[in-house]
Amino acid sequence: MKNILITGGAGFIGSHVVRLFVKTFTSDHIYNLDALTYAGNLENLKDIESADNYSFIHADIQNLEVLTEIFETNKITHVIHLAAESHVDRSITDPLAFVKTNVLGTANLLQAAKEYWKDEYTDKLFYHVSTDEVYGSLGDTGFFYEDTAYDPRSPYSASKASSDHFVRAYHHTYGLPIVISNCSNNYGPNHFPEKLIPLMINNIIHKKPLPVYGEGLNVRDWLYVIDHARAIECIFSKGENGETYNIGGHNEWTNIDLVHVLCDTMDEKLNRTQGESRKLISYVKDRAGHDLRYAIDATKLKDELGWVPSLQFEEGLRKTIDWYLSNDSWLENVTSGAYAQYYKSMY
Ligand code: NAD
Ligand code: TYD
Repeated sequence: MKNILITGGAGFIGSHVVRLFVKTFTSDHIYNLDALTYAGNLENLKDIESADNYSFIHADIQNLEVLTEIFETNKITHVIHLAAESHVDRSITDPLAFVKTNVLGTANLLQAAKEYWKDEYTDKLFYHVSTDEVYGSLGDTGFFYEDTAYDPRSPYSASKASSDHFVRAYHHTYGLPIVISNCSNNYGPNHFPEKLIPLMINNIIHKKPLPVYGEGLNVRDWLYVIDHARAIECIFSKGENGETYNIGGHNEWTNIDLVHVLCDTMDEKLNRTQGESRKLISYVKDRAGHDLRYAIDATKLKDELGWVPSLQFEEGLRKTIDWYLSNDSWLENVTSGAYAQYYKSMY
């Protein structure tokens, strides 16, 4: 039996991973460790919170002593590490918060695993969830591959790159069994509305300006969050010790084209006149150091482990919009209080 510690399980991607693991690995136990920062929300997991093979642990990965105790008490055999500060804009205003959680927090978790496993690595795994942003920024052509040199350019991506390096260092130095995956931009239900897609959906609902950075020509490669969770399950089950896998959907959009599709689809869903929401688009000052383009080549994951995305973008986007429209109380809960203050200071 595995005792699987998933960190950041109350967040956007983590909650989908926790749900998939609780439902898939019914003879194993899933421990969801989360500090419940502004981005963590246990409402995301209401449907599985009373499952026999699930427990929530309220803890901060910045605290090594607490982590050590958690490994011992729960006899942790596997880790899937998603807990992180994850928003580039916040990393520009408060970089040190990213160093504390993403760098120090990851090092703490590695250290706790190494100390508890005591060089006995049979049936153990440390799975680190990372981002394609560690590879830097692409021009108009080309893709990120698993062996693309790291070139992080925001405090967020620098902190994630550093955490990836620590994971590999523990593998090479101490033999810790690890896998790393680097994924492109995710979208889907439960996404906190500070990131592009949910922010635009929320603003369209409320007829608020749609802030597009610069000229809106930056390109992102979007993947439905449940497909990311499926990829994590696939790599967890079949990935090779020490390997890195890129995850992406070959689905590139300029920000402005994507905002146009969101506006038009929302006009249709909300019975508004076509073109009404596009009028809300407002070009604002560009993000400092804004990476131009991300694009993932996920051939290795497909060829070696057989993973492919299950959803086309148009379908995923419709599902996402439907989810936000029918979960207005979720949106209201996460956009009250601290979020309102953040929004006021950003835009
Ligand atoms: P998120 O911000 O929605 O969730 C992060 C979670 O981590 C929250 O529940 C938060 O409470 C928790 N957390 C933060 N600091 C913590 C700490 N010190 N101790 C314990 N828990 C803490 O993030 P997300 O978008 O779900 O991303 C999850 C992971 O996936 C991150 O590691 C991120 O770098 C990576 N990733 C995200 C994307 C994306 O598009 N969102 C793409 C690729 C990779
Ligand atoms: P984001 O969702 O923050 O993800 P990331 O920066 O990690 O890729 O942003 C996606 C793209 O959308 C990025 O190019 C910045 C842009 N963007 C806007 O134009 N306006 C916004 O209000 C936000 C949040 C992002």
